[in-house]
Amino acid sequence: MTDNLEALSDTLQRAARAAGDILREGYHAAGTIEFDSKGASDFVSHYDRAAEQAIIDTIRLIHPEVGFLGEESGITAAGDSDLRVVIDPLDGTNNFLHKVPHFSVSIAVERGAELLMGVVYQPLLDEMLWAVHGRGAFLGDQRLRLPPARPLNEMLVGTCLPYHGKGDCQLSCRQLAQLMPQVSGIRSPGSAALEVAYVALGRFDAFWSQGAELEWWDIAAGIVIAREAGCKVTDLSGNSAPREWHSLLVAHPDRHGPLAECLTS
Ligand code: IPD
Ligand code: CA
Ligand code: CA
Repeated sequence: MTDNLEALSDTLQRAARAAGDILREGYHAAGTIEFDSKGASDFVSHYDRAAEQAIIDTIRLIHPEVGFLGEESGITAAGDSDLRVVIDPLDGTNNFLHKVPHFSVSIAVERGAELLMGVVYQPLLDEMLWAVHGRGAFLGDQRLRLPPARPLNEMLVGTCLPYHGKGDCQLSCRQLAQLMPQVSGIRSPGSAALEVAYVALGRFDAFWSQGAELEWWDIAAGIVIAREAGCKVTDLSGNSAPREWHSLLVAHPDRHGPLAECLTS
C-alpha cells in the first residue's frame, strides 16, 4: 500500500485535517487554553496531544506498517516498512496559547535520509500545502511555481528566533544585524513549518534559521514543499543533505548564495 505515494499523501492530508479540526476547536473555545511545561519555553496543551493522536490514528488505519516520530509521543517503530512519518501536530504552540492566529500542522514522510513528502496545513485558513518528492508542490490542487527572484532590497525574509532558555540569542542578533540592512524586511511569525512553506508560496522570499535551534519535525515537511516548488534548500554551509540540520536557508536559487554569504560573513 505504502508503495503508492499518492495514496499516502492523501492520507497525510486527511490526517492533517483531522488534527486541524481539533486545533480549530481549541482556538475558538472560550477562555484561556491550559497547558503544561515540557521544559524552558516548551509548552504542550491537551490539543497538541489530541492532534498528534488523531494524526497517528488516521494514518495507522490505512498504513499500519509505517513508523512514527512525533513531537509529543516520540518514536514508534515501523512494522514491515522503511517509511517513517515525522509529526509536529501543532507548530506554533506559543501562538496558539496566546490565540495568535498563526500555527500549523506539519507532517512529513522519510525513507532513511530521503524526504519523500510533506504536508503543512493552516487550519484557520484551511490552506493545505503539500508536496511529493519529484512530483511538485501544491496549495490545494494548485501547482506551486516559484515567482521570479526579487532584488535583495525588496525581499521579505522569514526567520525563527530563540525562545527563553532555548537557542543562541547572540548568533541570532548578529545574523539579524547582518541581514537587516540588506533586505526589505524580516519577519518571525512563530510557526517554522509555515514560514518555510511560505517561501514556496512566494509570501516570503526566503527563510533562514540557526539560533533558534529548530527540531526536525519543525522543518521536515516545509523542506519538501520548498524544494518541490523550486527553492534551493541547504544548511548555512551549503549542504543540501546534512546528516542533521543545525541551520537552514531556503531561497530562490538566484538569491540563495548572496543571502548565505551575508548571514555567514
Ligand atoms: C516552535 C515553532 C517556532 C520556532 C520554535 C519551535 P512548537 O515549534 O516552530 O516557530 O521558533 O523553535 O519550537 O514548539 O510551537 O511546535
Ligand atoms: Ca514545532
Ligand atoms: Ca509542536
